[in-house]
Amino acid sequence: MTLLLPILVGFLAAVIGGLYLLGVFRRQRPGEPPLDKGLIPWMGHVLEFRKDTIKFLDRMKQKHGDVFTVQLGGFYLTFILDPLSLGTFVKESPEKLDFNTFARNLVERLFGYRSLGNEKQLLMKTSHKHLRGPGLEVLTHAMMCNLQNVMLHNTDSSTDQKTWLEDRLFKYSYKAVFRAGYLSLFGNASQNCEGSVEKAKEKDQAESETLFHEFRKYDQLVPNLAYGVLPPREKMEAERIKAFFWKALSMQKMKIKDNISRWVWDMQQGRQELGIKESMIDRYMLVLLWVSQGNTGPSAFWLLFFLMKHPEAMAAVREEVNRVLKESGQEVRRDGPLINLTCDMLMKTPILDSAVEETLRLTAAPLLVRSVLQDMTLKMANGCEYRIRKGDRMAVLPYSAVHLNPEIHPDPHSFKYDRFLNPDGSKKTDFYKGGKKVKYYSMPWGAGVSMCPGRFFANNELKQFVFLMLVYFDLELKNPDEKTPEYDVSRLGFGALHPVKDIQFRYSLRF
Ligand code: HEM
Ligand SMILES: *[C@@H]1O[C@H](CO)[C@@H](O)[C@H](O)[C@H]1NC(C)=O
Ligand SMILES: *[C@@H]1O[C@H](CO)[C@@H](O)[C@H](O)[C@H]1NC(C)=O
Ligand SMILES: *[C@@H]1O[C@H](CO)[C@@H](O)[C@H](O)[C@H]1NC(C)=O
Repeated sequence: MTLLLPILVGFLAAVIGGLYLLGVFRRQRPGEPPLDKGLIPWMGHVLEFRKDTIKFLDRMKQKHGDVFTVQLGGFYLTFILDPLSLGTFVKESPEKLDFNTFARNLVERLFGYRSLGNEKQLLMKTSHKHLRGPGLEVLTHAMMCNLQNVMLHNTDSSTDQKTWLEDRLFKYSYKAVFRAGYLSLFGNASQNCEGSVEKAKEKDQAESETLFHEFRKYDQLVPNLAYGVLPPREKMEAERIKAFFWKALSMQKMKIKDNISRWVWDMQQGRQELGIKESMIDRYMLVLLWVSQGNTGPSAFWLLFFLMKHPEAMAAVREEVNRVLKESGQEVRRDGPLINLTCDMLMKTPILDSAVEETLRLTAAPLLVRSVLQDMTLKMANGCEYRIRKGDRMAVLPYSAVHLNPEIHPDPHSFKYDRFLNPDGSKKTDFYKGGKKVKYYSMPWGAGVSMCPGRFFANNELKQFVFLMLVYFDLELKNPDEKTPEYDVSRLGFGALHPVKDIQFRYSLRF
Protein backbone atom coordinates (compact mmCIF):
# COMPACT_ATOMS: atom_id res chain seq x y z
CA MET A 1 0.00 0.00 0.00
CA THR A 2 2.76 2.44 0.92
CA LEU A 3 4.37 1.75 -2.44
CA LEU A 4 1.16 1.74 -4.44
CA LEU A 5 0.09 5.22 -3.39
CA PRO A 6 2.98 7.16 -4.94
CA ILE A 7 2.60 5.08 -8.10
CA LEU A 8 -1.11 5.84 -8.24
CA VAL A 9 -0.53 9.52 -7.59
CA GLY A 10 2.18 9.59 -10.22
CA PHE A 11 -0.07 7.85 -12.72
CA LEU A 12 -2.91 10.27 -11.98
CA ALA A 13 -0.60 13.24 -12.42
CA ALA A 14 0.57 11.88 -15.76
CA VAL A 15 -3.00 11.34 -16.93
CA ILE A 16 -4.06 14.81 -15.86
CA GLY A 17 -0.95 16.31 -17.45
CA GLY A 18 -1.73 14.41 -20.65
CA LEU A 19 -5.34 15.53 -20.66
CA TYR A 20 -4.14 19.07 -20.07
CA LEU A 21 -1.85 18.85 -23.07
CA LEU A 22 -4.72 17.44 -25.09
CA GLY A 23 -6.68 20.57 -24.23
CA VAL A 24 -9.41 18.84 -22.27
CA PHE A 25 -9.45 21.44 -19.49
CA ARG A 26 -9.36 24.56 -21.59
CA ARG A 27 -12.51 26.63 -21.16
CA GLN A 28 -13.61 29.95 -22.58
CA ARG A 29 -12.80 32.58 -19.96
CA PRO A 30 -14.90 35.74 -19.53
CA GLY A 31 -14.14 38.23 -22.29
CA GLU A 32 -12.61 35.63 -24.61
CA PRO A 33 -13.99 34.74 -28.05
CA PRO A 34 -16.22 31.65 -28.28
CA LEU A 35 -14.10 28.50 -28.01
CA ASP A 36 -14.74 25.49 -30.23
CA LYS A 37 -12.38 22.62 -29.51
CA GLY A 38 -14.00 20.05 -31.77
CA LEU A 39 -14.58 16.44 -30.79
CA ILE A 40 -11.09 14.97 -31.14
CA PRO A 41 -8.67 15.89 -28.34
CA TRP A 42 -5.60 17.87 -29.47
CA MET A 43 -6.42 17.44 -33.18
CA GLY A 44 -9.62 19.44 -32.79
CA HIS A 45 -11.02 20.48 -36.16
CA VAL A 46 -7.91 19.92 -38.22
CA LEU A 47 -9.43 17.28 -40.53
CA GLU A 48 -12.45 19.38 -41.44
CA PHE A 49 -10.30 22.50 -41.69
CA ARG A 50 -7.98 20.82 -44.17
CA LYS A 51 -10.70 19.26 -46.24
CA ASP A 52 -12.33 22.56 -47.11
CA THR A 53 -11.20 25.59 -45.13
CA ILE A 54 -13.88 27.91 -46.50
CA LYS A 55 -16.71 25.55 -45.68
CA PHE A 56 -15.36 25.05 -42.18
CA LEU A 57 -15.01 28.77 -41.52
CA ASP A 58 -18.53 29.37 -42.87
CA ARG A 59 -19.89 26.76 -40.47
CA MET A 60 -18.06 28.32 -37.53
CA LYS A 61 -19.27 31.77 -38.53
CA GLN A 62 -22.87 30.55 -38.52
CA LYS A 63 -22.34 29.09 -35.08
CA HIS A 64 -20.19 31.73 -33.38
CA GLY A 65 -20.13 34.95 -35.39
CA ASP A 66 -17.15 36.90 -36.73
CA VAL A 67 -14.57 35.99 -34.09
CA PHE A 68 -13.95 32.55 -32.58
CA THR A 69 -11.16 30.34 -31.34
CA VAL A 70 -10.75 26.81 -32.68
CA GLN A 71 -8.39 24.00 -31.82
CA LEU A 72 -6.27 22.76 -34.72
CA GLY A 73 -3.59 20.15 -34.16
CA GLY A 74 -2.61 21.32 -30.68
CA PHE A 75 -2.86 25.03 -31.46
CA TYR A 76 -5.63 27.44 -30.60
CA LEU A 77 -6.32 29.77 -33.50
CA THR A 78 -8.53 32.80 -33.20
CA PHE A 79 -10.02 33.69 -36.58
CA ILE A 80 -11.22 37.17 -37.47
CA LEU A 81 -13.83 37.17 -40.22
CA ASP A 82 -15.03 40.76 -39.92
CA PRO A 83 -13.49 42.75 -42.79
CA LEU A 84 -13.82 46.02 -40.89
CA SER A 85 -11.80 44.73 -37.93
CA LEU A 86 -8.66 43.56 -39.67
CA GLY A 87 -6.71 46.69 -38.67
CA THR A 88 -5.72 45.37 -35.24
CA PHE A 89 -4.42 42.18 -36.74
CA VAL A 90 -2.49 43.93 -39.48
CA LYS A 91 -1.02 46.76 -37.42
CA GLU A 92 -0.46 45.20 -33.99
CA SER A 93 3.15 45.48 -32.84
CA PRO A 94 5.42 42.47 -33.48
CA GLU A 95 6.00 42.27 -29.69
CA LYS A 96 2.41 41.10 -29.40
CA LEU A 97 1.65 39.48 -32.74
CA ASP A 98 4.67 37.84 -34.28
CA PHE A 99 4.93 36.49 -37.82
CA ASN A 100 8.46 35.13 -37.79
CA THR A 101 8.12 32.18 -35.41
CA PHE A 102 5.41 30.59 -37.49
CA ALA A 103 7.15 31.40 -40.78
CA ARG A 104 10.49 30.03 -39.60
CA ASN A 105 8.98 26.70 -38.61
CA LEU A 106 7.17 26.40 -41.91
CA VAL A 107 10.23 27.28 -43.96
CA GLU A 108 12.28 24.67 -42.12
CA ARG A 109 9.64 22.02 -42.60
CA LEU A 110 9.12 22.78 -46.28
CA PHE A 111 12.59 23.64 -47.50
CA GLY A 112 15.07 22.44 -44.90
CA TYR A 113 16.37 25.94 -44.24
CA ARG A 114 17.19 26.60 -40.59
CA SER A 115 17.05 30.28 -39.86
CA LEU A 116 19.38 31.93 -37.37
CA GLY A 117 16.58 34.36 -36.67
CA ASN A 118 18.38 37.53 -37.75
CA GLU A 119 17.85 37.48 -41.50
CA LYS A 120 14.54 39.29 -41.70
CA GLN A 121 16.30 42.66 -41.93
CA LEU A 122 18.33 41.41 -44.88
CA LEU A 123 15.24 40.19 -46.69
CA MET A 124 13.47 43.49 -46.21
CA LYS A 125 16.46 45.61 -47.19
CA THR A 126 17.36 43.58 -50.26
CA SER A 127 13.78 43.37 -51.45
CA HIS A 128 13.23 47.07 -50.92
CA LYS A 129 16.29 47.81 -52.99
CA HIS A 130 15.80 45.37 -55.87
CA LEU A 131 12.09 44.61 -56.10
CA ARG A 132 10.93 48.21 -56.46
CA GLY A 133 12.13 51.52 -57.86
CA PRO A 134 15.16 51.43 -60.20
CA GLY A 135 15.95 47.82 -59.18
CA LEU A 136 12.51 46.80 -60.35
CA GLU A 137 13.18 48.30 -63.76
CA VAL A 138 16.31 46.22 -64.23
CA LEU A 139 14.49 43.05 -63.20
CA THR A 140 11.46 43.82 -65.33
CA HIS A 141 13.72 44.35 -68.32
CA ALA A 142 15.37 40.97 -67.77
CA MET A 143 11.96 39.35 -67.43
CA MET A 144 10.82 40.94 -70.66
CA CYS A 145 13.80 39.55 -72.63
CA ASN A 146 13.54 36.10 -71.12
CA LEU A 147 9.78 35.88 -71.48
CA GLN A 148 10.00 36.59 -75.20
CA ASN A 149 12.80 34.08 -75.62
CA VAL A 150 10.73 31.44 -73.90
CA MET A 151 7.46 32.27 -75.63
CA LEU A 152 8.74 32.50 -79.16
CA HIS A 153 11.07 29.53 -78.86
CA ASN A 154 8.91 26.84 -80.47
CA THR A 155 6.93 29.04 -82.81
CA ASP A 156 7.74 29.17 -86.47
CA SER A 157 6.96 32.30 -88.43
CA SER A 158 8.65 31.12 -91.62
CA THR A 159 5.55 29.80 -93.36
CA ASP A 160 2.76 31.95 -94.73
CA GLN A 161 0.15 29.55 -93.51
CA LYS A 162 -1.36 30.16 -90.15
CA THR A 163 -0.51 27.22 -87.96
CA TRP A 164 -2.24 26.61 -84.66
CA LEU A 165 -0.47 25.03 -81.73
CA GLU A 166 -2.39 23.29 -79.02
CA ASP A 167 -1.44 23.04 -75.37
CA ARG A 168 -2.80 22.94 -71.85
CA LEU A 169 -3.28 26.45 -70.55
CA PHE A 170 -2.30 25.95 -66.90
CA LYS A 171 0.86 24.08 -67.80
CA TYR A 172 1.73 26.49 -70.60
CA SER A 173 1.29 29.65 -68.51
CA TYR A 174 2.93 28.30 -65.39
CA LYS A 175 5.89 27.00 -67.37
CA ALA A 176 6.48 30.16 -69.40
CA VAL A 177 6.34 32.42 -66.35
CA PHE A 178 8.39 30.01 -64.23
CA ARG A 179 11.18 29.69 -66.78
CA ALA A 180 11.43 33.37 -67.56
CA GLY A 181 11.18 34.27 -63.87
CA TYR A 182 13.80 31.73 -62.93
CA LEU A 183 16.23 32.92 -65.59
CA SER A 184 15.69 36.56 -64.65
CA LEU A 185 16.29 36.01 -60.95
CA PHE A 186 18.84 33.21 -60.88
CA GLY A 187 20.73 34.09 -64.04
CA ASN A 188 21.28 32.40 -67.39
CA ALA A 189 24.02 30.32 -68.95
CA SER A 190 27.16 32.22 -69.80
CA GLN A 191 27.86 32.73 -73.48
CA ASN A 192 31.58 32.52 -72.85
CA CYS A 193 31.34 29.17 -71.06
CA GLU A 194 28.97 27.64 -73.60
CA GLY A 195 30.71 28.99 -76.68
CA SER A 196 27.84 30.85 -78.34
CA VAL A 197 24.54 32.59 -77.66
CA GLU A 198 22.65 29.69 -79.28
CA LYS A 199 24.38 27.11 -77.09
CA ALA A 200 23.72 29.20 -73.99
CA LYS A 201 20.05 29.53 -74.90
CA GLU A 202 19.75 25.81 -75.51
CA LYS A 203 21.23 25.08 -72.14
CA ASP A 204 18.83 27.50 -70.44
CA GLN A 205 15.88 25.92 -72.24
CA ALA A 206 16.84 22.41 -71.17
CA GLU A 207 17.73 23.32 -67.62
CA SER A 208 14.68 25.47 -66.89
CA GLU A 209 12.48 22.72 -68.34
CA THR A 210 13.89 20.17 -65.89
CA LEU A 211 13.60 22.59 -63.01
CA PHE A 212 9.99 23.31 -63.83
CA HIS A 213 9.23 19.61 -63.92
CA GLU A 214 10.70 19.01 -60.47
CA PHE A 215 9.17 22.20 -59.10
CA ARG A 216 5.69 21.04 -60.08
CA LYS A 217 6.22 17.73 -58.35
CA TYR A 218 7.22 19.54 -55.18
CA ASP A 219 4.35 21.97 -55.58
CA GLN A 220 1.92 19.07 -55.30
CA LEU A 221 3.52 17.72 -52.15
CA VAL A 222 3.61 21.04 -50.32
CA PRO A 223 0.14 21.13 -48.70
CA ASN A 224 0.57 17.70 -47.08
CA LEU A 225 4.16 18.46 -46.22
CA ALA A 226 3.11 21.64 -44.45
CA TYR A 227 0.52 19.76 -42.41
CA GLY A 228 3.07 17.05 -41.65
CA VAL A 229 0.93 14.25 -43.07
CA LEU A 230 2.99 13.09 -46.03
CA PRO A 231 3.08 9.28 -46.42
CA PRO A 232 6.60 7.74 -46.20
CA ARG A 233 7.04 7.21 -49.94
CA GLU A 234 6.15 10.78 -50.77
CA LYS A 235 8.31 11.95 -47.94
CA MET A 236 11.28 10.28 -49.58
CA GLU A 237 10.33 11.86 -52.88
CA ALA A 238 10.18 15.26 -51.18
CA GLU A 239 13.67 14.72 -49.74
CA ARG A 240 14.98 13.81 -53.17
CA ILE A 241 13.52 16.88 -54.81
CA LYS A 242 14.78 19.19 -52.07
CA ALA A 243 18.29 17.81 -52.50
CA PHE A 244 17.98 18.24 -56.26
CA PHE A 245 17.18 21.93 -55.86
CA TRP A 246 19.81 22.60 -53.23
CA LYS A 247 22.32 21.36 -55.77
CA ALA A 248 20.80 22.94 -58.87
CA LEU A 249 20.61 26.35 -57.21
CA SER A 250 23.85 26.11 -55.25
CA MET A 251 26.25 29.03 -54.96
CA GLN A 252 28.82 26.89 -56.74
CA LYS A 253 26.52 26.61 -59.77
CA MET A 254 25.61 30.30 -59.64
CA LYS A 255 29.21 31.35 -59.91
CA ILE A 256 29.36 30.36 -63.58
CA LYS A 257 26.12 32.10 -64.53
CA ASP A 258 25.54 35.47 -66.14
CA ASN A 259 22.94 38.07 -65.27
CA ILE A 260 22.08 36.85 -61.75
CA SER A 261 19.66 39.36 -60.29
CA ARG A 262 20.90 41.63 -57.54
CA TRP A 263 18.04 40.42 -55.38
CA VAL A 264 19.36 36.84 -55.32
CA TRP A 265 22.98 37.95 -55.32
CA ASP A 266 22.62 40.25 -52.32
CA MET A 267 20.71 37.60 -50.38
CA GLN A 268 23.65 35.22 -50.91
CA GLN A 269 26.30 37.77 -50.07
CA GLY A 270 24.37 39.11 -47.09
CA ARG A 271 24.03 35.62 -45.66
CA GLN A 272 27.70 34.94 -46.10
CA GLU A 273 28.45 38.11 -44.20
CA LEU A 274 26.17 36.92 -41.40
CA GLY A 275 28.37 33.84 -41.18
CA ILE A 276 25.83 31.38 -42.56
CA LYS A 277 27.30 28.17 -44.00
CA GLU A 278 27.34 27.80 -47.76
CA SER A 279 25.27 24.59 -47.62
CA MET A 280 22.58 26.48 -45.71
CA ILE A 281 22.64 29.32 -48.22
CA ASP A 282 22.11 26.77 -50.98
CA ARG A 283 18.99 25.65 -49.14
CA TYR A 284 17.81 29.23 -48.89
CA MET A 285 17.91 29.51 -52.67
CA LEU A 286 15.05 27.00 -52.77
CA VAL A 287 13.07 29.26 -50.43
CA LEU A 288 13.61 32.14 -52.84
CA LEU A 289 12.68 30.04 -55.86
CA TRP A 290 9.53 28.93 -54.10
CA VAL A 291 8.28 32.34 -52.98
CA SER A 292 9.11 33.91 -56.32
CA GLN A 293 7.64 31.20 -58.59
CA GLY A 294 4.96 29.32 -56.67
CA ASN A 295 2.22 31.92 -57.04
CA THR A 296 3.04 33.85 -60.19
CA GLY A 297 2.57 31.05 -62.76
CA PRO A 298 -0.83 29.89 -61.46
CA SER A 299 -2.01 33.52 -61.28
CA ALA A 300 -0.86 34.07 -64.88
CA PHE A 301 -2.98 31.09 -65.89
CA TRP A 302 -6.12 32.42 -64.22
CA LEU A 303 -5.64 35.88 -65.68
CA LEU A 304 -5.32 34.58 -69.22
CA PHE A 305 -8.10 32.08 -68.72
CA PHE A 306 -10.57 34.67 -67.41
CA LEU A 307 -9.78 36.94 -70.36
CA MET A 308 -10.31 34.12 -72.85
CA LYS A 309 -13.53 33.16 -71.11
CA HIS A 310 -14.90 36.73 -71.09
CA PRO A 311 -14.80 38.21 -74.60
CA GLU A 312 -15.74 41.73 -73.48
CA ALA A 313 -12.82 41.72 -71.02
CA MET A 314 -10.48 40.34 -73.68
CA ALA A 315 -11.58 43.00 -76.16
CA ALA A 316 -11.01 45.81 -73.65
CA VAL A 317 -7.55 44.58 -72.67
CA ARG A 318 -6.52 43.87 -76.26
CA GLU A 319 -7.53 47.35 -77.26
CA GLU A 320 -5.53 48.85 -74.41
CA VAL A 321 -2.46 46.76 -75.10
CA ASN A 322 -2.49 47.53 -78.82
CA ARG A 323 -2.87 51.23 -78.10
CA VAL A 324 0.05 51.28 -75.66
CA LEU A 325 2.23 49.39 -78.13
CA LYS A 326 1.34 51.79 -80.93
CA GLU A 327 1.95 54.84 -78.77
CA SER A 328 5.43 53.53 -78.01
CA GLY A 329 6.11 53.64 -81.75
CA GLN A 330 6.52 49.87 -82.05
CA GLU A 331 4.73 47.17 -83.98
CA VAL A 332 5.04 43.41 -84.16
CA ARG A 333 6.47 42.29 -87.48
CA ARG A 334 7.59 38.99 -88.85
CA ASP A 335 11.36 38.71 -88.31
CA GLY A 336 11.20 42.18 -86.78
CA PRO A 337 12.95 43.01 -83.51
CA LEU A 338 11.47 41.83 -80.22
CA ILE A 339 9.13 44.21 -78.47
CA ASN A 340 10.77 46.55 -75.99
CA LEU A 341 8.09 46.44 -73.32
CA THR A 342 9.22 49.00 -70.74
CA CYS A 343 8.06 49.73 -67.17
CA ASP A 344 6.78 52.99 -68.53
CA MET A 345 4.43 51.17 -70.90
CA LEU A 346 3.30 48.87 -68.09
CA MET A 347 2.16 51.91 -66.13
CA LYS A 348 -0.33 52.91 -68.82
CA THR A 349 -2.66 49.94 -68.55
CA PRO A 350 -5.44 50.64 -66.01
CA ILE A 351 -7.81 48.10 -67.55
CA LEU A 352 -5.22 45.33 -67.38
CA ASP A 353 -4.42 46.42 -63.81
CA SER A 354 -8.04 45.97 -62.85
CA ALA A 355 -8.19 42.56 -64.55
CA VAL A 356 -5.09 41.48 -62.60
CA GLU A 357 -6.55 42.66 -59.32
CA GLU A 358 -9.84 40.93 -60.05
CA THR A 359 -8.00 37.72 -60.91
CA LEU A 360 -6.09 37.82 -57.63
CA ARG A 361 -9.27 38.53 -55.70
CA LEU A 362 -10.74 35.33 -57.10
CA THR A 363 -7.71 33.08 -56.96
CA ALA A 364 -5.21 34.22 -54.29
CA ALA A 365 -5.94 32.65 -50.93
CA PRO A 366 -3.11 33.05 -48.42
CA LEU A 367 -3.72 32.27 -44.75
CA LEU A 368 -2.19 34.97 -42.56
CA VAL A 369 -1.03 33.64 -39.20
CA ARG A 370 0.52 35.36 -36.18
CA SER A 371 1.75 33.97 -32.87
CA VAL A 372 0.40 35.75 -29.79
CA LEU A 373 3.43 36.63 -27.64
CA GLN A 374 1.58 38.55 -24.87
CA ASP A 375 -1.95 38.53 -23.50
CA MET A 376 -3.74 41.18 -25.51
CA THR A 377 -7.07 42.75 -26.36
CA LEU A 378 -8.62 42.54 -29.80
CA LYS A 379 -10.75 45.59 -30.56
CA MET A 380 -13.48 45.09 -33.11
CA ALA A 381 -14.92 47.82 -35.34
CA ASN A 382 -18.29 47.55 -33.58
CA GLY A 383 -16.70 48.34 -30.21
CA CYS A 384 -16.58 44.76 -28.91
CA GLU A 385 -13.35 43.72 -27.23
CA TYR A 386 -11.94 40.23 -26.85
CA ARG A 387 -9.16 38.95 -24.66
CA ILE A 388 -6.61 36.86 -26.50
CA ARG A 389 -4.28 34.49 -24.65
CA LYS A 390 -0.54 34.41 -24.89
CA GLY A 391 0.61 31.24 -26.66
CA ASP A 392 -2.37 31.12 -29.02
CA ARG A 393 -2.36 32.09 -32.66
CA MET A 394 -4.43 34.53 -34.62
CA ALA A 395 -5.41 34.00 -38.23
CA VAL A 396 -7.13 35.72 -41.13
CA LEU A 397 -8.15 34.09 -44.39
CA PRO A 398 -8.83 37.16 -46.53
CA TYR A 399 -10.30 34.97 -49.23
CA SER A 400 -13.33 34.17 -47.12
CA ALA A 401 -13.44 37.31 -44.94
CA VAL A 402 -12.93 39.81 -47.75
CA HIS A 403 -12.47 38.53 -51.31
CA LEU A 404 -15.71 36.56 -51.51
CA ASN A 405 -17.70 38.79 -49.18
CA PRO A 406 -20.87 39.72 -51.13
CA GLU A 407 -21.34 42.87 -49.08
CA ILE A 408 -18.01 44.24 -50.30
CA HIS A 409 -17.90 42.65 -53.75
CA PRO A 410 -21.40 42.04 -55.12
CA ASP A 411 -21.76 38.82 -57.09
CA PRO A 412 -18.41 37.74 -55.61
CA HIS A 413 -17.89 34.56 -57.63
CA SER A 414 -18.07 36.32 -61.00
CA PHE A 415 -15.07 37.69 -62.84
CA LYS A 416 -15.70 41.35 -63.62
CA TYR A 417 -12.65 42.81 -65.30
CA ASP A 418 -13.65 46.39 -64.45
CA ARG A 419 -14.50 45.78 -60.78
CA PHE A 420 -11.44 47.80 -59.75
CA LEU A 421 -12.05 50.68 -62.17
CA ASN A 422 -13.89 53.93 -61.56
CA PRO A 423 -16.27 55.16 -64.29
CA ASP A 424 -13.61 57.70 -65.31
CA GLY A 425 -11.12 54.88 -65.93
CA SER A 426 -8.98 55.43 -62.82
CA LYS A 427 -8.19 52.79 -60.21
CA LYS A 428 -11.05 52.13 -57.83
CA THR A 429 -10.12 51.95 -54.16
CA ASP A 430 -13.44 52.80 -52.48
CA PHE A 431 -15.30 49.75 -51.28
CA TYR A 432 -17.98 49.65 -48.61
CA LYS A 433 -19.63 47.21 -46.26
CA GLY A 434 -22.90 48.34 -44.72
CA GLY A 435 -22.06 51.97 -45.52
CA LYS A 436 -18.62 51.80 -43.89
CA LYS A 437 -15.49 52.11 -45.97
CA VAL A 438 -13.41 48.93 -46.11
CA LYS A 439 -9.70 49.58 -46.00
CA TYR A 440 -8.59 46.02 -46.73
CA TYR A 441 -10.85 45.23 -49.68
CA SER A 442 -8.45 42.74 -51.29
CA MET A 443 -5.39 41.12 -49.72
CA PRO A 444 -3.70 38.75 -52.20
CA TRP A 445 -0.29 39.88 -50.93
CA GLY A 446 -1.04 39.51 -47.24
CA ALA A 447 -0.67 42.57 -45.05
CA GLY A 448 1.43 44.25 -42.40
CA VAL A 449 4.83 42.83 -41.48
CA SER A 450 4.57 39.84 -43.82
CA MET A 451 3.19 41.62 -46.87
CA CYS A 452 4.72 40.22 -50.04
CA PRO A 453 7.82 42.29 -50.89
CA GLY A 454 7.71 40.94 -54.47
CA ARG A 455 4.26 42.29 -55.27
CA PHE A 456 5.42 45.02 -57.65
CA PHE A 457 7.54 42.61 -59.64
CA ALA A 458 4.84 39.92 -59.57
CA ASN A 459 2.31 42.42 -60.85
CA ASN A 460 4.66 43.38 -63.67
CA GLU A 461 5.28 39.74 -64.55
CA LEU A 462 1.57 39.03 -64.87
CA LYS A 463 1.07 42.09 -67.04
CA GLN A 464 4.10 41.32 -69.20
CA PHE A 465 2.91 37.79 -69.76
CA VAL A 466 -0.55 38.83 -70.88
CA PHE A 467 0.70 41.84 -72.85
CA LEU A 468 3.10 39.72 -74.87
CA MET A 469 0.67 36.83 -75.33
CA LEU A 470 -1.89 39.23 -76.74
CA VAL A 471 0.40 41.09 -79.09
CA TYR A 472 2.11 37.97 -80.43
CA PHE A 473 -0.71 35.43 -80.55
CA ASP A 474 -4.29 34.78 -81.41
CA LEU A 475 -5.73 32.66 -78.65
CA GLU A 476 -8.79 30.52 -78.23
CA LEU A 477 -10.19 27.91 -75.90
CA LYS A 478 -10.50 24.58 -77.67
CA ASN A 479 -13.95 24.22 -76.20
CA PRO A 480 -15.57 27.66 -76.47
CA ASP A 481 -18.13 26.68 -73.81
CA GLU A 482 -15.45 25.71 -71.32
CA LYS A 483 -16.62 26.24 -67.75
CA THR A 484 -14.36 27.88 -65.19
CA PRO A 485 -12.66 24.90 -63.54
CA GLU A 486 -13.20 24.25 -59.84
CA TYR A 487 -10.46 25.31 -57.44
CA ASP A 488 -8.44 22.66 -55.71
CA VAL A 489 -9.66 23.39 -52.18
CA SER A 490 -6.76 21.53 -50.57
CA ARG A 491 -4.58 24.53 -51.45
CA LEU A 492 -6.68 27.09 -49.61
CA GLY A 493 -4.33 29.00 -47.36
CA PHE A 494 -1.28 28.34 -49.53
CA GLY A 495 -1.52 31.36 -51.83
CA ALA A 496 -2.48 31.04 -55.49
CA LEU A 497 -5.17 28.44 -56.06
CA HIS A 498 -4.81 25.78 -58.73
CA PRO A 499 -7.59 24.46 -60.97
CA VAL A 500 -8.60 20.83 -60.41
CA LYS A 501 -8.12 20.20 -64.12
CA ASP A 502 -6.24 21.77 -67.00
CA ILE A 503 -7.84 23.49 -70.01
CA GLN A 504 -7.00 22.87 -73.67
CA PHE A 505 -6.33 25.98 -75.74
CA ARG A 506 -4.87 26.94 -79.12
CA TYR A 507 -2.55 29.72 -80.09
CA SER A 508 -1.11 30.99 -83.31
CA LEU A 509 1.30 33.76 -84.26
CA ARG A 510 -0.54 36.87 -85.40
CA PHE A 511 1.98 37.90 -88.03
C1 HEM B 1 1.08 36.50 -57.90
C2 HEM B 1 2.22 36.33 -57.28
C3 HEM B 1 2.46 36.42 -55.79
C4 HEM B 1 1.56 36.36 -54.75
C5 HEM B 1 0.04 36.18 -54.82
C6 HEM B 1 2.33 36.49 -53.53
C7 HEM B 1 1.78 36.48 -52.26
C8 HEM B 1 2.51 36.50 -51.09
C9 HEM B 1 1.96 36.47 -49.75
C10 HEM B 1 0.48 36.39 -49.43
C11 HEM B 1 2.99 36.49 -48.87
C12 HEM B 1 2.89 36.53 -47.34
C13 HEM B 1 2.71 35.20 -46.73
C14 HEM B 1 2.34 35.29 -45.27
O1 HEM B 1 1.87 36.32 -44.78
O2 HEM B 1 2.49 34.28 -44.62
C15 HEM B 1 4.21 36.53 -49.65
C16 HEM B 1 5.48 36.54 -49.10
C17 HEM B 1 6.62 36.70 -49.83
N1 HEM B 1 6.71 36.90 -51.19
FE1 HEM B 1 5.17 36.88 -52.51
N2 HEM B 1 3.65 36.62 -53.85
C18 HEM B 1 3.78 36.59 -55.21
C19 HEM B 1 4.94 36.71 -55.94
C20 HEM B 1 6.19 36.97 -55.40
C21 HEM B 1 7.39 37.24 -56.17
C22 HEM B 1 7.47 37.29 -57.68
C23 HEM B 1 8.40 37.41 -55.26
C24 HEM B 1 9.86 37.73 -55.47
C25 HEM B 1 10.46 38.00 -56.57
C26 HEM B 1 7.84 37.25 -53.94
C27 HEM B 1 8.56 37.33 -52.76
C28 HEM B 1 8.04 37.09 -51.50
C29 HEM B 1 8.85 36.98 -50.30
C30 HEM B 1 10.37 37.10 -50.22
C31 HEM B 1 7.97 36.73 -49.24
C32 HEM B 1 8.32 36.47 -47.77
C33 HEM B 1 8.14 37.71 -46.94
C34 HEM B 1 8.46 37.50 -45.48
O3 HEM B 1 8.92 36.41 -45.08
O4 HEM B 1 8.24 38.45 -44.74
N3 HEM B 1 6.50 37.00 -54.07
N4 HEM B 1 3.90 36.55 -50.99
C1 LIG C 1 20.15 36.37 -70.30
O1 LIG C 1 19.33 37.30 -69.59
C2 LIG C 1 19.49 38.64 -69.97
C3 LIG C 1 18.61 39.48 -69.09
O2 LIG C 1 18.95 39.30 -67.74
C4 LIG C 1 19.11 38.81 -71.43
O3 LIG C 1 19.34 40.15 -71.82
C5 LIG C 1 19.94 37.89 -72.29
O4 LIG C 1 19.48 37.95 -73.61
C6 LIG C 1 19.83 36.45 -71.80
N1 LIG C 1 20.78 35.65 -72.52
C7 LIG C 1 20.44 34.55 -73.19
C8 LIG C 1 21.55 33.80 -73.84
O5 LIG C 1 19.30 34.14 -73.25
C1 LIG D 1 24.28 39.72 -69.11
O1 LIG D 1 25.62 39.28 -68.87
C2 LIG D 1 26.49 39.50 -69.97
C3 LIG D 1 27.85 38.86 -69.63
O2 LIG D 1 28.26 39.23 -68.35
C4 LIG D 1 26.63 41.01 -70.22
O3 LIG D 1 27.47 41.23 -71.32
C5 LIG D 1 25.23 41.56 -70.50
O4 LIG D 1 25.30 42.96 -70.64
C6 LIG D 1 24.25 41.21 -69.39
N1 LIG D 1 22.91 41.61 -69.77
C7 LIG D 1 22.12 42.33 -68.98
C8 LIG D 1 20.78 42.67 -69.51
O5 LIG D 1 22.45 42.69 -67.87
C1 LIG E 1 13.87 50.16 -74.51
O1 LIG E 1 13.30 51.35 -74.06
C2 LIG E 1 14.02 51.98 -73.00
C3 LIG E 1 13.22 53.15 -72.51
O2 LIG E 1 12.68 53.89 -73.55
C4 LIG E 1 15.40 52.38 -73.52
O3 LIG E 1 16.14 52.97 -72.47
C5 LIG E 1 16.12 51.13 -74.00
O4 LIG E 1 17.34 51.47 -74.58
C6 LIG E 1 15.27 50.40 -75.04
N1 LIG E 1 15.92 49.14 -75.34
C7 LIG E 1 16.03 48.68 -76.58
C8 LIG E 1 16.69 47.36 -76.75
O5 LIG E 1 15.62 49.30 -77.53
